Amino acid sequence: MAELGKDINRAKQLLDRGELVAIPTETVYGLAANALDATAAARIFAAKNRPSFDPLIVHVATPLRVHELVTDFPDQAQALATTFWPGPLTLVLPKKNHIPDLVTAGLPTVGVRCPSHELTLELLHLLDYPLAAPSANPFGYVSPTRPEHVQEQLGSQVAYILDGGPCRVGVESTIVGFDDGPVIYRLGGVAVEEIENVVGHVRVMTHSSSNPVAPGQLASHYAPARQIVLGNAADLLAQHPNEKVALLRYHKRLPDTSVPQIVLSPSGSLEEAAQNLFAALRQFDKMDVTLVLAELVPDTGIGRAINDRLRRAATSR
Ligand code: TXA
Ligand code: MG
Repeated sequence: MAELGKDINRAKQLLDRGELVAIPTETVYGLAANALDATAAARIFAAKNRPSFDPLIVHVATPLRVHELVTDFPDQAQALATTFWPGPLTLVLPKKNHIPDLVTAGLPTVGVRCPSHELTLELLHLLDYPLAAPSANPFGYVSPTRPEHVQEQLGSQVAYILDGGPCRVGVESTIVGFDDGPVIYRLGGVAVEEIENVVGHVRVMTHSSSNPVAPGQLASHYAPARQIVLGNAADLLAQHPNEKVALLRYHKRLPDTSVPQIVLSPSGSLEEAAQNLFAALRQFDKMDVTLVLAELVPDTGIGRAINDRLRRAATSR
């Protein structure tokens, strides 16, 4: 079991020694280490069982610190940083040489982000290095949005879990790169519409491929243990009469059935649905069911990121 607490000085002490600390962010919990120390970063890959082709996001205290990490910080990227940081946005920019190749998986670019969580921002201000941190889950599994999610899966691998409570956003950051104009590589906490309000038209390239630019694009990423089937709840129930099923609903229970149901947002808000999504997927994994029948949510705002994660979770491995 990892030590759990709100002590940023303790977290600093461990990070200074090259150890792993789980940190809260507004999106999901991260598994953090000194981003400029290749040995510390290697521990992240080992703890997560993460393949070395999957680069890490580097977290900074302020946009100013980005200049220490990148060779070019284009105007459009700066405009996005000014608008959304601290917040759920990662910018992919050309990296400086002192960032270990392991961190960026050998890519000439680095993903940087300034997270919006009071405890983690205080910690980043204390440190004299940035923090490399992927989501704090075993590779391929659902990201953790509560400290207990980290404790359950990686408790024996991290020295300390900085307890920042449940994550406010609940899905990972939106990843934006620049390749002949802005490109979204991963849908996330900042909606496409919001990004376009700042930089105009953006290409969305989040489809999967065998050689994804961002491994978050892998079709089967974010997969819980239970098999998930997408569609209309009533139709799916009728199609699976002899199986132990559970329902994942957006904002209302399906009436006239006794199967277990999780409603993502009783108030019918996409923000609330995003907050609850990953905890719900984890809950199904603990239920005595073989199949989760899930409906997509309205495909607008953060709903696009929720649907992206549901589709990936539903893609069988
Ligand atoms: O919200 C988040 O982004 C969370 C919190 C902890 O900050 N982090 C997170 O990290 O989701 P991770 O490692 O689970 O996902 C990071 C994604 C990966 O798919 C990775 O490939 C992509 O970011 N990425 C990182 N650096 C990149 C780069 N230079 N070019 C393209 N994609 C990159
Ligand atoms: Mg991840």
